Amino acid sequence: MIKIQSETHNRLGTVVCDNGTPNVMQFSFVLEGVSSEVTVRRGEFVSVVTNVGEVIARVQDLIRTNRYYQHAEAVREYQSRGEPLRSIFPTDRWQYTVATARVVGLWANNRPVRPYFAISPGSVVRQVDASVLSKFLRLDLENGLNLGSLGHHNLLFSPSMDKLLSKHLAILAMSGAGKSYFVSVLLEELLTRSKSQGRIATVLIDVHGEYKYLKDMEPISTSVDSAFDVEHIRGAHLQIPVNTLTAEGIGALVSDMSSVQKRDLKRILAEIRSTQKGGYSLKELIEYVRNDETIKGNTRDALIGWLYNLEETNLFGKEGVPDIKSMVRPGRLTIIDLSDFISLRKKQIVVAHLANELLYLRRRDIIPPFLLVLEEAHQFCPESRHDLALPKARIETIAREGRKFYALLCLISQRPVKLSTTVLSQCSNQAIFRCTNPYDLDHIGRSSEGIDRAALDAITTLEVGEALFVGETVSVPTFVKIRQRKFEPSGQAKSLTEALMRADK
Ligand SMILES: Nc1ncnc2c1ncn2[C@@H]1O[C@H](COP(=O)(O)OP(=O)(O)OP(=O)(O)O)[C@@H](O)[C@H]1O
Ligand SMILES: [Mg+2]
Repeated sequence: MIKIQSETHNRLGTVVCDNGTPNVMQFSFVLEGVSSEVTVRRGEFVSVVTNVGEVIARVQDLIRTNRYYQHAEAVREYQSRGEPLRSIFPTDRWQYTVATARVVGLWANNRPVRPYFAISPGSVVRQVDASVLSKFLRLDLENGLNLGSLGHHNLLFSPSMDKLLSKHLAILAMSGAGKSYFVSVLLEELLTRSKSQGRIATVLIDVHGEYKYLKDMEPISTSVDSAFDVEHIRGAHLQIPVNTLTAEGIGALVSDMSSVQKRDLKRILAEIRSTQKGGYSLKELIEYVRNDETIKGNTRDALIGWLYNLEETNLFGKEGVPDIKSMVRPGRLTIIDLSDFISLRKKQIVVAHLANELLYLRRRDIIPPFLLVLEEAHQFCPESRHDLALPKARIETIAREGRKFYALLCLISQRPVKLSTTVLSQCSNQAIFRCTNPYDLDHIGRSSEGIDRAALDAITTLEVGEALFVGETVSVPTFVKIRQRKFEPSGQAKSLTEALMRADK
């Protein structure tokens, strides 16, 4: 497949002296051709060839001027006479457009260099060649992930998997902007990778049951001959082994456990672990506490009460189901479907356990490098100390230390302002979709270095399915239109009207 169509190196305009420019970071240019035509668009990359390399810039704004219309008085005068200016004067010929552009880099000797000089007035501005742009942005047309295309350019957006995922990815936007859709596209790409391209194990926490359709996907490309490796596990089938629970762990799950009670529980857990090597259930643990004679009466009652409370969640058992060691495999997607759980606490217990085990097993190299995809991440690692947040410490540890041994996170949130700043600042890559809430925008602006005011403004005007990629993925923040997914979930109503029609049969 030819990924880039060669673009003619069209001239766009000429650099002029304007308002202290050209300087190292900015220049303005007057557009060529018929002034009413749109030849350059805001956000487009343009290039100026110099004798030390190609200066690559992004169009920030376009200003149209016409000296016939500069004096309101004169325009008003002709208006009142009922004669439009253009019927008397050749006004069209005097209209021109000045584009302002911000330099994003210098492409010299086949590598990007930080800009260090101002281009000369009179230089010719051209369309940037797609192959140069792709190299400049560090896209990987051979082995990258085909996620969409660059706005205004005939270029696929195919970042390398290494750059996109190896330092954690945050996907942020308001509701309905296309986050989950993008995750489906990303998963399609990860599942179709060949062994030689590198296949990551993915564990997806599916809070709303949106991804289970992926298990029915059939490969449509001939390059992949085996079926996709997708496992779907319902929350109701999960079982957390009781012997992995520590006194601190149980203390975090229940409220107000005193240090004396914790100490007693610790001793009991150590004892039961040494006698019951094959694991034990919560009921057995409760019996053990009941029969312990050294423990004080009211401590015993309190411990038994808490353990019953955990038993009622139906989440714990003698053995772990599924076995995480065999669940996490290269190239496999495991969907942990929590859509049956209403209680946030239950969801949090599952996520805390999974995060804990995944990190432990990865550290010891028992499981391969993995990507943990977490929808509604603000529910699991909130910024506020007042919110219930059982998995927070674990997720923060993965965020801080995971990248060293490729325990990677992909966090999705529609309320970035509620997401832990520690975690967000560790996500070196961000895909930001449409977002209009000023608090969220402010939070995004503060937590990612690459975003300036103009980019923040642009985020408010993005359409559904369009995103700004910032961070290690691309050398400069880049606007991307996410591609359509190849597999559509069947049976899902696409609109309210469709859902109503189905319900009204
Ligand atoms: N790249 C895209 N191409 C085509 N349609 C899209 C694209 N992205 C999103 N959509 C449409 O927008 C709808 C909403 O997208 P999505 O479910 O991904 O939103 P979301 O950001 O996950 O919202 P929420 O925060 O409520 O979960 C999709 O069902 C789909 O119809
Ligand atoms: Mg969603």
